[in-house]
Amino acid sequence: MTGVNKNRIKIALTKGRVEKQVVPLLEKAGINCDQIRQKKRRLIFDSPVQPYEFILAKGPDVTTFLERGAADIGIVGSDILVEHRSNQYELLDLKTGECQFVLASTNDFDPNEPKRKIIGTKYPNITKKYFDRLGQDVEIIKIEGSVELAPLTGLADAIVDITETGTTIKENNLKIYDYLDKVSTRLVVNRMSLKQHSKEIYVLVDKLEGAIKDENLSKEY
Ligand code: PRP
Repeated sequence: MTGVNKNRIKIALTKGRVEKQVVPLLEKAGINCDQIRQKKRRLIFDSPVQPYEFILAKGPDVTTFLERGAADIGIVGSDILVEHRSNQYELLDLKTGECQFVLASTNDFDPNEPKRKIIGTKYPNITKKYFDRLGQDVEIIKIEGSVELAPLTGLADAIVDITETGTTIKENNLKIYDYLDKVSTRLVVNRMSLKQHSKEIYVLVDKLEGAIKDENLSKEY
């Protein structure tokens, strides 16, 4: 059974969309991700040749692993970091997982209507901050996924959610009414780990920085 090896840099990687986009970048940086690619249902991976151990976790749990020192490094979207008010030390913007928060609803939604709105979202803190800025008191309903269902079913008047390709909004006949903050995947580090493993962590950050530059150059070319 694979457990947590204390001599390794433990990297908590957000599973799902972030994982899919970050694994190719890690590989470009020379980090072997074969085990993650062949993972099936496994969640923890100890590289036999490199000093890294990967933990696959849900975004909010990545911040918990870091806060509690169960991981040294976290790879997680800035949406999660902002929503969970994480004070982890951010070392790098990986420039992947780029998406944007939007206010969206059905075509008949009127954002200027004076009635108290009901807003569905996975991000209640970000939503509250947005409407506070607008000086509007709204009722927020926390939804765990497929947020687009909320205005379509009458559960909410509108949603605050992230959009990447815009496909989900388009295919569900929703309309964007406002653009909020941009989101991307960040590399964050536990402050104590940075003291204990600064050399290894900065080596990894340098490699990733090089891979990100290459990626951007090939996009421009
Ligand atoms: C996110 C988000 C939207 C969708 C937008 O959900 O909440 O539903 O992606 O992406 P698009 O603009 O590329 O269509 P996610 O896929 O993470 O899953 P969830 O709906 O279960 O939360």
